[in-house]
Amino acid sequence: MFDVTKDDVLLNLITTDDQNVTEELFAEARENRKEYYGTKVYFRGLIEFTNYCKNDCLYCGIRRSNKNAERYRLTKEQILNCCRKGNLLGYKTFVLQGGEDPYYDDDRLTEIIAAIHAEFPDSAITVSVGERSTESYEKILKAGAARYLLRHETANNEHYGKLHPSSMSLSNRKKCLFELKKIGFQVGAGFMVGSPYQTPQNLLEDLHFLRELNPQMIGIGPFIPQADTPLKDFAQGSLEQTLRMVALARLIVPQALIPATTALGTINPFGREKALNAGANVVMPNLSPVEYRKLYALYDNKICTGDEAAECFMCMQNRIKKAGWTPDLCRGDAA
Ligand code: SAM
Ligand code: FES
Repeated sequence: MFDVTKDDVLLNLITTDDQNVTEELFAEARENRKEYYGTKVYFRGLIEFTNYCKNDCLYCGIRRSNKNAERYRLTKEQILNCCRKGNLLGYKTFVLQGGEDPYYDDDRLTEIIAAIHAEFPDSAITVSVGERSTESYEKILKAGAARYLLRHETANNEHYGKLHPSSMSLSNRKKCLFELKKIGFQVGAGFMVGSPYQTPQNLLEDLHFLRELNPQMIGIGPFIPQADTPLKDFAQGSLEQTLRMVALARLIVPQALIPATTALGTINPFGREKALNAGANVVMPNLSPVEYRKLYALYDNKICTGDEAAECFMCMQNRIKKAGWTPDLCRGDAA
């Protein structure tokens, strides 16, 4: 057993290239995950409903300064159609993700959430639209959403400042996460691995932050450069280190729901399977209409942009079974 209360142990695991140690870490992460979730892998239907964004994160392909991004927004009816498609396939969780798009003010956003909730009352609605006021979060919760994803991106102030414009602050992001949790959302934090200027010490701070927040969900993926961003010339995050961070997140927050992210599947054909092997227990196949998929280009070479919802669904089911896990379509709340 690794003593993850000790920083020197964590730092060693963050940086190790010892295969035996890594295998031991993954085995312990799998044990932890099995204790709470058995071999189940939960499905979330992802709907990327707008790529407009008022923010200018230096790593992100849909940042407002990217004039090459062709922008789109889905209507309430288009979003409902995605949910209907997902519902027929058996999904019981819908994730509404988008840039920070002022068009979806509280009225418009809550109208959409309430409509999904009315039509699919047994399904969980997850929202991921960035930083808003506590009053806005309360309205979103009241409209029927139960979960909110807001990656903290990096828990180190200085590092945060190198990845974001000065108009954005880590303190507000953290404040939002604590507020969301306080008012009753199941919250998801998370970060990129291998983002420009990141140090092992920064990753250690990410783990400390996870311990402090104790979120129900943790999203971890490699940084992948996007050609139209200022950080386009930086190297992508390493597969191995991302997998170790997934495993460490599992040890730090054993009951967390941790997705095998699309970004991991993008940097390695079996990245998602490898993440399941390292302690992840969720997948998020795409339900967005195929004609818009390529436009939600957060990073280059994103996978699954040409596949219909049903194809992605079948593909993930098969991959999960082949890897020895059990696809599970229930709501999949945190244990
Ligand atoms: N606007 C919402 C927010 O800020 O939380 C949700 C959408 S945002 C595009 C979703 C996530 O994509 C971010 O939290 C970030 O970690 C990830 N992301 C953006 N650009 C990326 C890149 N170049 N490589 C890997 N992940 C990236
Ligand atoms: Fe989308 Fe395999 S998960 S095609």
